Amino acid sequence: MDAKEISLNEKEVRPVVDLLNDYLANYHVHYQKLRGCHWNVKGQNFFTLHIKFEELYTNAQLTIDEIAERVLTLGKPPHSRFADYIKESSIKEIDTIGMKDLDMVDAILADMAQLIQMERELLEATEQAGDDGTNDMVNRFMQFKEKTTWMLRSFAGKK
Ligand SMILES: [Fe+2]
Repeated sequence: MDAKEISLNEKEVRPVVDLLNDYLANYHVHYQKLRGCHWNVKGQNFFTLHIKFEELYTNAQLTIDEIAERVLTLGKPPHSRFADYIKESSIKEIDTIGMKDLDMVDAILADMAQLIQMERELLEATEQAGDDGTNDMVNRFMQFKEKTTWMLRSFAGKK
């Protein structure tokens, strides 16, 4: 498949594809962090956060699949190896064993802030390339994390 099959210019969507692959790598590291938080959370908030983290990693898993399949739709292969994810991701892994519950919430909020920043870059790049499909998809993912940021900050008693 080539981007021209869907009336897009291959050269023009190249920056979008590169950003999407970067974004995919970051999302994978974020996903695994959420799983670690789900497994290792302890204390009074266990039941609330154990479920919330599961909800978030389930959403991240679906998001990851959509990002990868969008890369394929644009005519390129998505990164699929952990080695590439670790190498490409600016979001870094953390050890969640023994981590305080609210520190986990802070770590997830920091990831989301980084992902939202990438999404804003992607929205610019998709606009340049006339790629409304990717623009719409990324915009949806961004809105989910914007709202989740508000909720997690409220949970943590932040302004
Ligand atoms: Fe579980």
